[in-house]
Amino acid sequence: MPLPPRWHEVPAAARFAIHVAALAALSLSPARALEPRVPYVPTPQDVVERMLEIAKVGPHDYLIDLGSGDGRIVVTAARKYGTRGFGVDLNPERIRESTVNARRAGVSEKVAFYQRDLFETSLTDATVITMYLLPQVNIELRPRLLELKPGTRLVSHDFDMGDWKPDTHIKMDAKDKYGGAGGASEIYFWIVPARVAGVWRWALPVSGKPLDYEVKLEQRYQVITGSAAVGGRAVKLQNARLRGDAIRFSFTAEVNGASVKHEFSGRVAGEAVTGSAKMSGARLQGQHDWNARRMTTTSTGLRELEPRVLHSVHSAVH
Ligand SMILES: C[S@@+](CC[C@H](N)C(=O)[O-])C[C@H]1O[C@@H](n2cnc3c(N)ncnc32)[C@H](O)[C@@H]1O
Repeated sequence: MPLPPRWHEVPAAARFAIHVAALAALSLSPARALEPRVPYVPTPQDVVERMLEIAKVGPHDYLIDLGSGDGRIVVTAARKYGTRGFGVDLNPERIRESTVNARRAGVSEKVAFYQRDLFETSLTDATVITMYLLPQVNIELRPRLLELKPGTRLVSHDFDMGDWKPDTHIKMDAKDKYGGAGGASEIYFWIVPARVAGVWRWALPVSGKPLDYEVKLEQRYQVITGSAAVGGRAVKLQNARLRGDAIRFSFTAEVNGASVKHEFSGRVAGEAVTGSAKMSGARLQGQHDWNARRMTTTSTGLRELEPRVLHSVHSAVH
């Protein structure tokens, strides 16, 4: 988008409003299908570096930049971290620039650039997805992002994802922003959460006998809450946390007449969790394998996060 004269004298908030208004006009135009809905505004190089640091990008990652501009995010990840990946952009001029930039950086073997609509791009190979798009475009992408493999990392420059709150959010000054006019940049980071809503059951050996445990989890994106029961008696679920497919929580329950703290941590794979359970009490201590099964799934209230199998009933594993 050509910058108006004296653009750098316009306050940052006003620049942002103009930017969004221009984009809104673009997205309403009859030529919408042919025009990029997001204009080309490159991410300043220091912001690119920070985005990659926040996502902890490494040599085993596969990075996709949606609307890749001159390819700087994909090229920087390949040059600094040996990351493979690709970028897509509707503008053929950007694709040509990116290909030259990759060659100059000596990373042509690791990266590729395609002239393609980001909404028609398969994202399933990605371990990291980067974006500098627009709020509305992020929201439109959100259902597809939530379908990705749990643990996939998402980094967005400047724009959030509505009520899906980021796992990390930072602000930084970027002197090269808006063609050198300077401004503040925001970086939003999310980890795609596993689907964990539902009733989970398992048993642990206590004094040689199996004791039954049940946890009912509710989920809103990566935020989990719920209730627990031990041997049929309710206890308060504490410190519940979900990060990708890694889940943990704790509770304190009375076992054989004494209070015992329980700490669980494991990985979710479909209808099973495997991990370890630590018990610590005055009379009872120990570490056990933890194998939980989901008995019933419950609605998350979010279409994107609906468990894939609703109300499936499995036989208990004790
Ligand atoms: C704000 S720029 C970001 C460029 C680069 N990712 C960066 O951060 O420096 C957005 C880019 O998205 C591209 N774009 C917009 N809509 C697109 C679409 N539907 N599919 C692919 N690219 C698109 C534009 O051509 C533009 O180059």
